[in-house]
Amino acid sequence: MTNFQLSTYNFQLPATFFIETYGCQMNASDSEVVAAIMQNAGFTIAGDIREADILFINTCAVRDNAEQRVWGRLDFFRQLKQRRPSVITGVLGCMAERLKETLLENGTVDLVAGPDAYRSLPQLVREAESGQKGINTLLSREETYADISPVRMDKNGVTAFVSIMRGCNNMCAYCVVPYTRGPERSRPADSILAEVRGLLEKGYKEVTLLGQNVNSYAWKNTDDPSKTIDFAKLLELVALEDPALRVRFSTSHPKDMNNAVLYTIAMYPNICNHIHLPVQSGSTRLLQVMNRGYWRESYLERIARIREIIPGCAISTDIIAGFCSETDDDHAQTLSLLREVAFDAAYMFKYSERPNTKAARQFSDDVPDGIKTRRLMEIIALQNRLSLESNRRDVGKTFEVLAEGPSKRSPGDLAGRTPHNKMVVFPKAHCKAGDRVSVKITACSSATLTGVMI
Ligand code: 5AD
Ligand code: SF4
Repeated sequence: MTNFQLSTYNFQLPATFFIETYGCQMNASDSEVVAAIMQNAGFTIAGDIREADILFINTCAVRDNAEQRVWGRLDFFRQLKQRRPSVITGVLGCMAERLKETLLENGTVDLVAGPDAYRSLPQLVREAESGQKGINTLLSREETYADISPVRMDKNGVTAFVSIMRGCNNMCAYCVVPYTRGPERSRPADSILAEVRGLLEKGYKEVTLLGQNVNSYAWKNTDDPSKTIDFAKLLELVALEDPALRVRFSTSHPKDMNNAVLYTIAMYPNICNHIHLPVQSGSTRLLQVMNRGYWRESYLERIARIREIIPGCAISTDIIAGFCSETDDDHAQTLSLLREVAFDAAYMFKYSERPNTKAARQFSDDVPDGIKTRRLMEIIALQNRLSLESNRRDVGKTFEVLAEGPSKRSPGDLAGRTPHNKMVVFPKAHCKAGDRVSVKITACSSATLTGVMI
């Protein structure tokens, strides 16, 4: 009887699965939840994509080029399936949620599961295996996968993501995330702290608390509703778990980034002095069209508070070039804001219209592609200069670097990050991944610092 459920598989158990992940850190974290759900159902992780019985692709829908990349990979999955027709392929994540059953039409995809449907994956696999196409794209108001212990797939054993909330309620006009990840919900604080403790026991040295908008984290203890844990409090509780644990978080929303969080960062030396604060545009008019809930002046005021309360704090951002109705003047204001703030780093994108968003329904995608590209190039050129200047200011200084593993470019060296989230490459000597070392910076590019241990 105990094998009753499993006997419906034709697989010779244990069937193996492989997950390929695209998109943001949240997706990387979700893939670890998927791996846990699959392992708990008796499947095992395949070492090689070509040997796996089940191929999952965890997808991103935030820009069209992210989706194109996934279509390219699905082509490759099709070839693998031609060679071994028993292989089951599943599309997970934001593209699954956005495209739903249309993904099943091209014949390559056997199952589709949205971000809140991962608990049903073993069942969907079962259905696919019996020849039915399985699909679950229900979004949830409650699902946080709080009770699931993610299977860490990064393999460095040093840094880990901890999801603290899911979904987003912000409805920025350009963004598909509220539609693909559903409404915002916070994960119970005790389950977050338990996960952090588990990571500490396994020897992890750094956690990154993840959410679409971490500043609106709020968890009401059902036993005592008068006690709401907000993000500042949660950050403090995580920092207090172990003063040697490095704590990071992402992403912050400028409209919700309050001083309480800044004071908490300033108070605990193990909370890294780095804030990712996407601005998107430097033009107040465009920020209003985007429905961002702040304007240029209030954003700059936030930056001033950060620098006052946490001197030397690194700040990074996201920028969108060529959003609907963006004029040369709006663009000039974005460039001037970049100069004024002098961000340490930025992720910069060309606006990509996403079906069904407010912008797609109500505005015209009216900035010609050539102009979008030119503006993006100007933004990137300026930011590269600013990043280089920021890195040059670090040359000669000494930072505590948490070694994460071999450098990709020079595998004989170690790579790790400063508290400011800058990547540093340095000679290995007697060090190993997981060590915290003092590194004196000797040189830099716009992307990386190099140094020597002292
Ligand atoms: N087009 C281009 N960039 C986008 N982003 C979100 N939606 C879009 C879009 N439709 C960017 C924003 C966000 C980051 C994660 O992706 O800058 O902060
Ligand atoms: Fe998208 Fe805005 Fe939510 Fe970020 S805050 S996920 S940009 S809607």
